[in-house]
Amino acid sequence: MRKPNDFLEDILAEIEKGLKDDINADALADDFSMSSIHLQRLFKQTFRKPIGAYIRSRKLSSSIMDLLHSGLSVLDIALEYGFSYEQTYIISFRREFGFTPGDLRRNRQLVRTTPPLLPFGQESVYKNHFLVGNIIKEKYMDGVYFDMIKNNFNIVTPENSLKPVSLTSNRGGAYNWAYADQMVNQALENGIAVHGHVLVWHDWTPVWMTKGTKTEAEDNLKNYITDVLTHYHGRIYSWDVANEAIRDGLSAADAAGGWKKCLRTNVPWYRALGENYIETAFLTAREADPDITLYYNDYGLEDPRKAQAVWDMIYDINNRYGRTTGQERNLIEGLGMQAHYQINGFNENRVRSSLKKFSALNIELSISELDVTAAGYEEGEGKDIVMSENDAALQAMIYKRLFSFYRENAAYISRVSMWGIDDHNSWISAGTPCLFDRYLNPKQAFNAVFNTEK
Ligand code: XIL
Repeated sequence: MRKPNDFLEDILAEIEKGLKDDINADALADDFSMSSIHLQRLFKQTFRKPIGAYIRSRKLSSSIMDLLHSGLSVLDIALEYGFSYEQTYIISFRREFGFTPGDLRRNRQLVRTTPPLLPFGQESVYKNHFLVGNIIKEKYMDGVYFDMIKNNFNIVTPENSLKPVSLTSNRGGAYNWAYADQMVNQALENGIAVHGHVLVWHDWTPVWMTKGTKTEAEDNLKNYITDVLTHYHGRIYSWDVANEAIRDGLSAADAAGGWKKCLRTNVPWYRALGENYIETAFLTAREADPDITLYYNDYGLEDPRKAQAVWDMIYDINNRYGRTTGQERNLIEGLGMQAHYQINGFNENRVRSSLKKFSALNIELSISELDVTAAGYEEGEGKDIVMSENDAALQAMIYKRLFSFYRENAAYISRVSMWGIDDHNSWISAGTPCLFDRYLNPKQAFNAVFNTEK
């Protein structure tokens, strides 16, 4: 027998497929050989809203794309979504959003839509394979966005609020916990685990921390790590201890010289403490809270030389830890592969061979910041544009291949976290890299990843 969840998932998928047809509770109940009353009750019990209202909201939300991006008349759009009259559509639309379709066409304002209830993270094809995560930030903490987080993800990474400059900006031990705490607690209260990002990085770190004598800087590093881990003890169980320590564009000679020759040298912590700062950070973190899984996090690991340097670094640090402490437990227990990919030049073979290589480290591997941009590297929110058909299809294909690859290698992968829900609020929004558009409508990429056969 099928579990009710699977069945409701199928219903939700049917609704998505049927938004432009005359889909309704009666027809759905018929298709699934059950009474309409029973379906309505089950739906309401599970999702706390009537199925009819949900279908209407999804139709109206989805019609926004046609209003903004098609040349169809309002009447045509109304008919396309199964409304019998233009006026019925306009009235429902105004009731839902507070303005008419014509207003939207003129003003192109942002709209709070109703995203699909597809429980892709917790109840998806991936649920038995790895955790599925996303970021949290102010914008995502309420309304529709937080509902999406709650319904779909079982782990979140605060995008910026646990970075050093967010937690402490003044010398003298003044910490700004309040904001980050509120965010972390809200996630935990809703049953969502939190991954911590990040303790030691060249970016988002107050200048005072790395200044002064070597001893002062080292004290700052140790105190900061200890204070943060102590503060979040029992709430956050895995942390990115160090981030992006290895350089880009390594030459063959760099790579042959060992990982220490591949470190970024032009960064504050290296300048202050030299090549040992990473190991010091990990040792301090282990001592501050042994319950935590300590991660190294980096991007561009599909580059074989960078991958080799990261591999060597983790191997070397873990090996020394084992020898000096006699412990079997590794010091660096996790590797976060950021996975900020671009559709141009995406090289699946390289992604595959890096993961294969890292699997030999015998530590947890996580995809920590997945997104697939259609543009070059351009930071900033709110710059999303309408994707060309070609880009949308290519992006969907890359996401699909990545997820099927993650599934094949689920034995090594603990978590797949995406770096953003929707294109508008992405840190590289110009490249429309997410699974949902600015109206929270699922994109081709979403369907490619989450509507696969079980
Ligand atoms: C990014 C955030 O998404 C932006 O909001 C912020 O302005 C800059 O940092 N690698 C990382 C993340 O480890 O911390 C970065 O996050 C994205 C790249």
